[in-house]
Amino acid sequence: MAKVAATLNLEPEVALKCLTGLDVGLLLVGSGGEVRYANPRAGEVLEVKPDDLVGQSVCDLLGLAADGPLSAGEKVWKDFSLPPTQILGQRGEKELTLQCRVLPLGKGSRSEGGVMLLEDVSESAEEREFQRNIDRFSSIGNLSAVFAHEIRNPLTGIRTTIQFVQTKLPDDAPLVEDLDDVIKELDRIEQFTTDLLQFARPKISELRQTNVNEVVEKVLGHVALRCSEMDIQVKWEPGADVPEIPLDFDALRQALLNIVLNALDAMPEGGLLRVTSSTRRYRTRRAVEIAVADTGTGIPEEVIEKIYDPFFTTRGAGGTGLGLSITLQIVKEHGGRIYLRNRPQGGVIFRLSFPVPEESEA
Ligand SMILES: Nc1ncnc2c1ncn2[C@@H]1O[C@H](COP(=O)(O)OP(=O)(O)OP(=O)(O)O)[C@@H](O)[C@H]1O
Ligand SMILES: [Mg+2]
Repeated sequence: MAKVAATLNLEPEVALKCLTGLDVGLLLVGSGGEVRYANPRAGEVLEVKPDDLVGQSVCDLLGLAADGPLSAGEKVWKDFSLPPTQILGQRGEKELTLQCRVLPLGKGSRSEGGVMLLEDVSESAEEREFQRNIDRFSSIGNLSAVFAHEIRNPLTGIRTTIQFVQTKLPDDAPLVEDLDDVIKELDRIEQFTTDLLQFARPKISELRQTNVNEVVEKVLGHVALRCSEMDIQVKWEPGADVPEIPLDFDALRQALLNIVLNALDAMPEGGLLRVTSSTRRYRTRRAVEIAVADTGTGIPEEVIEKIYDPFFTTRGAGGTGLGLSITLQIVKEHGGRIYLRNRPQGGVIFRLSFPVPEESEA
């Protein structure tokens, strides 16, 4: 620190004030890519005490591949130069989207260290992704609601007319049976439109202060037998101090169950289902997060785009393709967010995030 301050002709105390007051994460990094100093904001962004960051490699801290561009001995640590770049990092099960810059310290090519600036842009990157899905979805959702509604009304008229015609026929007329079949088919259409309306306008009843851990445990209890039959190991890591938040228990249970069932479907040969809950601190707010990770097939990029679309399924006749669209809708109704990523080690991770209202913070 003193050396840095001297280079810049700053009183050490002034330099320290500047660094600790900065709203951007700042790391002083040595030529091996190891951290020599971290300011408090860097600690917040990486969720590690600044002192514990010292000595660690930037690559490890950001969960980046050891042979990637930020690994020890790479060009960036020789020149200490990296233009503003977005890096998708990982800490534990959490994805981080960071805006990074690296600048050399000192003069000329003799510089032995540099400054890495980190800004957490996860929230805005995730927000954009979520908004895209909602935009796609709301037009389809509205269309479905109109569609279902418009079909249901004439359907009722047709059904009543057929029943009226039946009463005019002698009981043993063969036509009576044919008309019964017609009514059965009409009932199928009716059921379909009811499902469609349920997805387009899912009912969220009263919100109650709820601990998401209880919801997770309910869902895992529901699939426990199936998991053991399918040779799927379940690892549940509840967050210790997760605050209660206003939720519709049954709706959230359904939303989560859809995700868990998809995870099981993706692991026909068995695997690991890992569910965690935690509290995440963003720059301006806190959120309760549930993450569901599987070790299944993963999702091809071209499928990810359509995954929340109603009736989109890759499971042929096995799926209706409404699962995730209902989940998305329920999460949205709670003011929450849903994100998914293919995991580098294989499989998929879904994260549901719900805001913690300010009065729950205390
Ligand atoms: N964890 C996962 N791993 C791999 N693919 C997944 C995963 N979750 C969802 N998918 C893909 O997303 C598609 C849509 O999922 P969604 O739950 O909406 O419908 P579904 O499971 O096919 O049918 P259902 O309506 O019965 O749930 C799935 O068919 C599958 O291709
Ligand atoms: Mg499903």
